[in-house]
Amino acid sequence: MIVCAVCNHKGGTGKTTTAIHVAAALGLSGKRVLVLDLDPQGFLSRTLDVPEPDPESSVLSFFDPEMDAEDLAPTEVSGFDLIPSSSTLTKRMRRLNKPTDVLWMRENLRRLDLPYDVVLFDTAAAVTVYSLNALVASRHVLIPVLPEYQGVVGAEQTFQTADLVRRKLNPDLLTRSFLLTQVDARKRIHHTYQKYLRNKYDDYVMEGQIRTSTSLAEAHEEGRTVFDHDSGARGARDYANATDRFLQRIRTAETTGDGVGTADPSPPSVESPPEPPESAAPSRNGNAGGNDPPTEEIVRPKRTGS
Ligand SMILES: Nc1ncnc2c1ncn2[C@@H]1O[C@H](COP(=O)(O)OP(=O)(O)OP(=O)(O)O)[C@@H](O)[C@H]1O
Ligand SMILES: [Mg+2]
Repeated sequence: MIVCAVCNHKGGTGKTTTAIHVAAALGLSGKRVLVLDLDPQGFLSRTLDVPEPDPESSVLSFFDPEMDAEDLAPTEVSGFDLIPSSSTLTKRMRRLNKPTDVLWMRENLRRLDLPYDVVLFDTAAAVTVYSLNALVASRHVLIPVLPEYQGVVGAEQTFQTADLVRRKLNPDLLTRSFLLTQVDARKRIHHTYQKYLRNKYDDYVMEGQIRTSTSLAEAHEEGRTVFDHDSGARGARDYANATDRFLQRIRTAETTGDGVGTADPSPPSVESPPEPPESAAPSRNGNAGGNDPPTEEIVRPKRTGS
């Protein structure tokens, strides 16, 4: 079973969109996929219009030592199964404060031995007991990166957190992969940060990228995947290609036992992401490219139901 966490400590970098579309692409290729929505805000579940279940049928059940596979009632959406989040996750977090509370997910997944080829975690933009559970349970970490200042800083921190988890808690964690998302080739700042990441992290950065795509935003508004919305659209092609490449990376790492993800990038942690130029100062607040031409492709839709 492939177990993978989709993480970035920075918000809005495309984690949920990536989790949904990697899961959907894997489902289309015949894999049995389970997505666990570990973001207490439950945007993945909401994006796909899946109602919030009772806490005991939600992803929270994985934090119960007595849980039983029969208690799980995954919802089938767009070719994969989903166990939604619950707003109770936030309340319950206060009680999950023992060091061993980061182990629940791994223990229960191992014990239940669920009939899936792939388990994917969507996580919140923070280091919480839930995102740590995802990292401790995973063999692979996919880090969607928006190539702007804050997105890159968050991605680098996530990369380090995943390595810390590998060294201290989860020696089975094999690969860490950056996936560039929401890339707009017309934005100079995106080129700058892509170059910085590829120079510093080399093979840890996946080939290709997810470009900004109105089709992804439209699909989001409709509560379905881009494959259901328009399977020929740019967003569908990008995620299908990225998923193929990701599977190939996993296969290579498993075969060689030498995952991109077991060594530190070279030189380690000496280089910092380039500061955005003065004229692009808004990028520090998440809107990079003050100098860049306006573009119709940049779509920041309202999030449905949030
Ligand atoms: N490639 C893309 N092209 C256009 N819009 C996109 C793309 N990827 C994501 N978006 C949009 O950007 C917004 C943020 O994406 P998403 O929710 O996936 O990020 P996130 O990292 O999960 O955010 P959070 O940290 O809040 O959970 C969403 O409205 C989504 O539809
Ligand atoms: Mg999200």
